[in-house]
Amino acid sequence: MQLAIASDHGGLQLKTEIIDYLKEVAIDCQDFGTYSGESVDYPDIVMPVAEAVAKKEFDLGILCCGTGIGVSIAANKVSGIRAALCHDSFSARMAREHNNANIITMGERVIGAGLARDILATFLHAQFSGGRHARRVDKIHNIEKKYCCR
Ligand code: RB5
Repeated sequence: MQLAIASDHGGLQLKTEIIDYLKEVAIDCQDFGTYSGESVDYPDIVMPVAEAVAKKEFDLGILCCGTGIGVSIAANKVSGIRAALCHDSFSARMAREHNNANIITMGERVIGAGLARDILATFLHAQFSGGRHARRVDKIHNIEKKYCCR
């Protein structure tokens, strides 16, 4: 499994802890920054990950900011991205099983590293259920094509 990860300054510590976790469990991830605590604008750090995941250069993406909200909103502007803000493990499982989410977002100012690990492990191990959920995800893609993103 190949993962892409990024954070703004508000999610930098959580991103570092997630990278440590992924090393422990031998899952490859490419770190798209940010690399220091200097203030950055989260839309700028989201786009390289969102575009790479949308092009299927990575299986899944992980985005962190202070709340997980800004990176989620920005990533969901990219066609083909289904970014899910998950601060509990049930939502993380449902995001994969029902929504076929391809990016998970989390907020460093909301949850601790232990819970983030559990949420991420759940997200990574869950599988899309397909069936009626595939029809619904297709309808989301139709909305993208009709109204918004390229
Ligand atoms: C940065 O201060 C903060 O606004 C950002 O990390 C994020 O929480 C935005 O949604």
